[in-house]
Amino acid sequence: MSGPIVILGVFVADTAYRAERMPKMGETILGNSFKLGPGGKGSNQSVAAAKAGGDVRMITRLGKDAFADIALSTWSDAGVVPEIEQVEDSYTGAAYIFIEEATGNNAIIISPGAAGTIDVPFVDRKADLIAGASVFMTQLEQPMPAAVRALEIAREGGAITILNPAPAAELPEGMLALCDYVTPNESEAEAITGLPVTTVEEAQAAAEMLLARGAKAAIITLGEKGALYHDATRSEHVPVFPVGKVVETTGAGDAFNGAFATGLAEGMDPVEAMRFGCACASISVTRPGTAPSMPSRDEIEALLAG
Ligand code: RIB
Repeated sequence: MSGPIVILGVFVADTAYRAERMPKMGETILGNSFKLGPGGKGSNQSVAAAKAGGDVRMITRLGKDAFADIALSTWSDAGVVPEIEQVEDSYTGAAYIFIEEATGNNAIIISPGAAGTIDVPFVDRKADLIAGASVFMTQLEQPMPAAVRALEIAREGGAITILNPAPAAELPEGMLALCDYVTPNESEAEAITGLPVTTVEEAQAAAEMLLARGAKAAIITLGEKGALYHDATRSEHVPVFPVGKVVETTGAGDAFNGAFATGLAEGMDPVEAMRFGCACASISVTRPGTAPSMPSRDEIEALLAG
């Protein structure tokens, strides 16, 4: 397949706090550790896709500040080509990440900063790049109209389109019909469909509703239960790969989506690309951080070879 993987999304600096529990309102508690590192779903996905072997372009807007420098060096190290604008009148965003020490689970607040000003004219300036993609992927951390416009351009250009609807939001009418693949996790699938998603069977029912709303295929990621692939003709469950102790689940969905996009760009069957994505995510959760936890192609292949 010709053309790069093009990702529209957000970079933020992740400020990650490990503690036994979240503080209550009005309370201060002592944490166990703090780490500053690169994050943002679009950026994490671009790093995962590039490290998995993809030719990746990252479209976003940054400020001109120290966090922007982290973004640029992260992409340079991973081999991601930045297709960005840097603005003076806003800041590069940040995320507060609470990591529960016992489980590695997380709770996040993200302030996208300059990326929160990405609008339709900005996307239109990137139209040639988006239309020429082999695979185009976006999420919902930048404003919704920009995501919709980019999906329209990608679809018209003939790219494979992926929407990772994270964080959960109400999707405008017709948006899912622009998607070859929609890839929510359990809570995002629940928010979009209004159905409970706690088992593979419940995920199938939610996926069916996503198809009814226009998506060609739905992939629902299910944490330690793996992921479900569901389209009009087949439904397959892909389990996670046992790798080791889970240290941090933040960014696992991004690992999955990034490697999945690389698999599709290489012409893999979608379920094979899902296995590639699940292997990438299974390794990433055994390491701290989001973008820094993304494995190399060799590591993914070694796990798949088993
Ligand atoms: O998906 C994980 C990411 O979500 C974190 O890196 C954080 O920045 C938020 O965007």
